[in-house]
Formats: sequence, structure tokens, C-alpha cells
Amino acid sequence: MPVDVERAKAVAAQRATEEVRPGMRVALGTGTTAAYAVRALAERFPRAAIDCVASSRATEALAASVGLSVRPLRGDDRFDLMIDGADEVSPSLDLTKGGGGALLREKLLARLSQKLVIVVDPSKLVRYLGERVPIPIEVVPFARPVVAHLLEERGYRPRLREGAAGEPYRTDNANEILDVRPSRPAVDPAALDRDLAEPTGVVETGVFVGLATQVVVGHADGRVEERSRSAGRG
Ligand code: A5P
Repeated sequence: MPVDVERAKAVAAQRATEEVRPGMRVALGTGTTAAYAVRALAERFPRAAIDCVASSRATEALAASVGLSVRPLRGDDRFDLMIDGADEVSPSLDLTKGGGGALLREKLLARLSQKLVIVVDPSKLVRYLGERVPIPIEVVPFARPVVAHLLEERGYRPRLREGAAGEPYRTDNANEILDVRPSRPAVDPAALDRDLAEPTGVVETGVFVGLATQVVVGHADGRVEERSRSAGRG
């Protein structure tokens, strides 16, 4: 990845962590940008001063390796803040997530968090979801051929995500991912989410509607832009 993009991700993540105070309950996102936030949190809170739950095994391992106190999810958990990346951010701050395969745990933790702060570089800003990347959906392996067929009948172009050796990629929840291209611009993200989630066997979609409270866009020159949801969470 070019140095400029890495710098942009790092400054966005750094800014997002400035909101965190000792004693806060923090949900940790997944991906290369969220990883900068995990490292920055570990530097600021070296002695287990914040209470963290991770959205993937990869983030859990990273957090533990840099000395953050990370624990399993509890039934009554609520978080003050979640910091996470995204694959796409629309002008209304709706998101495509799941490029790293962690969309189910990410959406669950986002819904349990009072604030969801999304950290991105400018390449993630799009006019509509599905413009830059296909939309990932997590699917039970047994149902996957049926789900793919149904979506094709509805005009979508689903593609099974593959692992490094060409085998079906498996999520942390032992499910598969279909990366789905809509046939036309998805101007109504809530309708897209409902349509993709509808077939039996779909566990969750990577469409995050109304969940982000703030988006922090980092730039390679060190500038940071912040966008907030003005009308509260949908
Ligand atoms: C993980 O499943 C994703 O939702 C990531 O948050 C998303 O793919 C962004 O990752 P990067 O920061 O690596 O681009």
C-alpha cells in the first residue's frame, strides 16, 4: 500500500482515539485502518485503562499483542464507542463493510455502541454504496448456492469469496461470503440491505445504514476532516 494512503489511515485513526477516556468501554473494529486505532489506543492506555471487545479474531490477537485488555462479549454489553474502518462511505454516512470478512461481528458491536466512529482515507468516499466495491454478505455454507441463485434471479451478480488457496473463504463464524454487485446504483441503501438480507441462509449484510455517528477522513498531508450524522441514528 502506498505510503500516502497509510499516512492518511494513521492520522484518521489517531484523531478518532482522541475521544477515548480512561474507563471507557470500547469496541474495536477490523481492518488495516482500525489496526492503526488499536495501536494508538495501546500507546495511550498501556495499563488496561479501557475495557475492550474485538470484532474479529485478528483484531483480538493484535490488541492482545500490543497490551490492550480485550475480553469476550457479554450478554449485557454496551460500548461508549466503537472505532472501525469501512470499504465505502456514502454522502449520508451509510457504509459498505466486510472487505475483511468481519461484517457480522462489526455490525453487532456497532449496534451495541453509543457512537460508531468510522476512520477512512479519501478513497473510501463514494456517491452510492456498491460504486467502489461489491457488497459482502455472510451466508451459511449449506444455503450459499440457493442464495446465490436467488440473488442472480433478482439481477445481482454474486461471487463467492475465495481464500488464499482458492478454497471458499470462511469467516470467524465459519460462514462463507458472497460479494454482490448490484445491477444498478444502489440509491436506497435501506432497500438494498433488506433485499440482500431476505433469502434464508443470509446471516448478515455489509450494508450499514444509519449506524455511523461520525466519519473521520484522514489525508496524506496530515489533515483530518470530520463528518457527523446530524439527525441522530436511524
Ligand atoms: C472488515 O470486515 C471491514 O469491514 C473493514 O472495516 C473494512 O474492510 C475496511 O478495511 P481497511 O481499513 O483495511 O480498508
